[in-house]
Amino acid sequence: MPDRISEGSKQQIREKLEELREHQITEAVHQIIEFDKTPSDVKAYMDRFVIGQERGKKVISTAIAFHYRRLGSALKQAIGENGKDIDTALRKTKTPKANILMVGPTGCGKTYTGEVASRLVGVPFVVEDLTKFSEVGYVGQNTSDILVDLLISAGGNPHVAQMGIVYLDEVDKIATEMVVQRDVSGKGVQKGLLKLVEGAENTIDLGKERLSLSTKHVLFIVGGVYENLEPLVKKRMAKHGLGGDWKDYLLTDDFVAYGMERQLMGRFPVRVVYDPLSVHDLSDIMVRSEDSPLRAYINDLKAWDIDLKFTADALTEVAHRAEHEGTGARGLISILHRVLLDDMYRLPGSFTGELVVDDHYVREKLR
Ligand SMILES: Nc1ncnc2c1ncn2[C@@H]1O[C@H](COP(=O)(O)OP(=O)(O)OP(=O)(O)O)[C@@H](O)[C@H]1O
Ligand SMILES: [Mg+2]
Repeated sequence: MPDRISEGSKQQIREKLEELREHQITEAVHQIIEFDKTPSDVKAYMDRFVIGQERGKKVISTAIAFHYRRLGSALKQAIGENGKDIDTALRKTKTPKANILMVGPTGCGKTYTGEVASRLVGVPFVVEDLTKFSEVGYVGQNTSDILVDLLISAGGNPHVAQMGIVYLDEVDKIATEMVVQRDVSGKGVQKGLLKLVEGAENTIDLGKERLSLSTKHVLFIVGGVYENLEPLVKKRMAKHGLGGDWKDYLLTDDFVAYGMERQLMGRFPVRVVYDPLSVHDLSDIMVRSEDSPLRAYINDLKAWDIDLKFTADALTEVAHRAEHEGTGARGLISILHRVLLDDMYRLPGSFTGELVVDDHYVREKLR
């Protein structure tokens, strides 16, 4: 087929696209620099998705609102001083970071809270497993992986990438005693991590161009189960005759006793302990969270004109089973799937109308 678009038009389209790209890039950076959400705005947004964890959400939303407001103002000032050059502004700006340490059982919403917050701020969110670090024993390769992931998640926008959130999972697995058993120096990994958190720079080779990216402005969240941290704190409390909730007494010393480097812990001043999800929370997640796995099934079935409804007792039954599985909210997905699988296979095309699931039905399916 002959090419019917003239060279002139093509050039125009190219310019338009370039302009659009430019515009989107500036737009994304602006959204971060002009960040004006208060801690309670951030929490209100989290509440739509994350159920329970009231204290955790309060701590995290405050830390995130302050981090991006602080970074935004500092950048605005630097841009004012240097003309419009964001690169120079990013390099010249120094802001104190308050990185976050999350402790809590599996599937209770640690990673999820970070992800939801990043959506609101409009920054990339990257999850990395710290066991990967201890396997190789050093941080170099992982640093460049993290920066590349941030860049991809930022849609190729290097400025936005450098202001993202990195969630490092399984931080408890790099505690020294534990890692020594695997014959890798946990100390080394923690030292490397310290550098990464403070601001490691890396050149990313993209073939045509090379990008120099830094983690200086990246907000780090580390999360871990920290099994047996509770008895450790309680032992210290008993020694000093202290009473009350152990979570209010968690100190750097306790993490050091667990095998964490004091220097590293100093970089994570914001600490929060997440609670195990109760049956009530689990039931609430199905009904209220905007990402609820039950809502997803309801929507899927609606596409076949099937109107799925769970009775209150059915929800409680599913929540009980999920709690029993001990995988937090992750259990909900697998249990709902087991309850609904047969219907999802059988009903589309042969049934329309209301499909009511009660507790008897749930028990029957989960026998
Ligand atoms: N409090 C909650 N409210 C709503 N949904 C939740 C909550 N906690 C977990 N979920 C759901 O369960 C999924 C798994 O949770 P998440 O990834 O946050 O677990 P985690 O606490 O990071 O656990 P792990 O220690 O295993 O990494 C989330 O993607 C979300 O769908
Ligand atoms: Mg997680």
